[in-house]
Amino acid sequence: MFNINEIRKDFPILSRTVNGKPLVYFDNAATSQTPQQVIDVIVDYYSNYNANIHRGVHSLSQEATDKYEQARHTIQKHFNAKHAHEIIFTSGTTHGINLVANGFSSILKAGDDILVSALEHHSNIVPWQMLCERTGANLKVIPMNQEGELVIPEFDALLSKNTKLVFVNHVSNALGTINPIEYIIKQAHLVGAAVLIDGAQSTPHIKPDVQALDVDFYVASAHKMCGPTGQGMLYGKESWLKKLPPYQGGGEMIAEVTFEKTTYAELPHKFEAGTPNICGGIAFGAAIDYMNTIGFDTIASYENELLVYATKQLQNIEGLTIYGTSKQKTSVISFNLDGIHPYDVGTILDKLGIAVRTGHHCAQPIMDFYSIPGTVRASFAFYNTKEEIDALITGIKKAKMMLS
Ligand code: ALA
Repeated sequence: MFNINEIRKDFPILSRTVNGKPLVYFDNAATSQTPQQVIDVIVDYYSNYNANIHRGVHSLSQEATDKYEQARHTIQKHFNAKHAHEIIFTSGTTHGINLVANGFSSILKAGDDILVSALEHHSNIVPWQMLCERTGANLKVIPMNQEGELVIPEFDALLSKNTKLVFVNHVSNALGTINPIEYIIKQAHLVGAAVLIDGAQSTPHIKPDVQALDVDFYVASAHKMCGPTGQGMLYGKESWLKKLPPYQGGGEMIAEVTFEKTTYAELPHKFEAGTPNICGGIAFGAAIDYMNTIGFDTIASYENELLVYATKQLQNIEGLTIYGTSKQKTSVISFNLDGIHPYDVGTILDKLGIAVRTGHHCAQPIMDFYSIPGTVRASFAFYNTKEEIDALITGIKKAKMMLS
């Protein structure tokens, strides 16, 4: 049974005030909050078994190694990867994308096409532009429409035997659109292209099955899923991870080092040079366990209720435009008030204790498409309430009155 009052008790931060008002936290797409169950795991690590992993014979090191590797298994199970060694620990989604983009430097040739979508975060654009500069490959863009959806016939038209890679987010961070990745993956595979899915904004709401999707790479961040910042994961099919060269050299990723020649460690260690964020990896596993105890179906259905409730009320505010009106959306609403800069709205909301993100959301091409400098973005999590949405609506009306 989903009991919102009980769930809110898990998040100590939700009982604080901001500017003398109860905190209303609607910036979940930037980072989610952390439940006590995950905070306890972090405290336990530093209080009881802080040690470097895979290195020491001593008990603390073994304990830390076991917990870290258990977390990898938790993540493997959650995403339904075939092997635990297909899960690479990273510092976040950006790191995972850069790792793959770097690996493709040795695979792509001048004249190859790689496809990006118009709905991407800069972290799923810039690494590929850098890859194109290194290899001479062409970056082609799947366009979007007014509703904030990808124009799929245009995607079909862009695919050819020259297409080597397609990279698309599962969910747009700026608009909340859920992209038809099942279709995109299937069609890309028909021309022999690999597919990377940026799951930073889907994984807080949806439980992806990487085998059912048949996706080649899937990346995500712990801090969007009730875990800590500085931690993420890359899923890669074993065949691809074996083919890609290591991203960084260093300790832990080698089999043997001499000055003449170095051989690399087996997966996953080949991609995990240096001491990782050990506590972060363990806490990531705990965060996934926490979210699974609530259940992703329950989370998605409750968040959809919040989305529908908020959308209806926002639509009733005169002069308010919502950007991103796809039927397939997560609980993210981007909007503007006529003639008012999003930053000003965000500042007034903050005075009322309401946290939203304002600006271009690291997705400037989307803002350019709508010819706007940015939006106000309210993004809801399963621990938010309709009463908090009421406070947002009151706050927006107040901001409109003060700024018009
Ligand atoms: N990518 C994060 C966001 O959309 C930071 O806010």
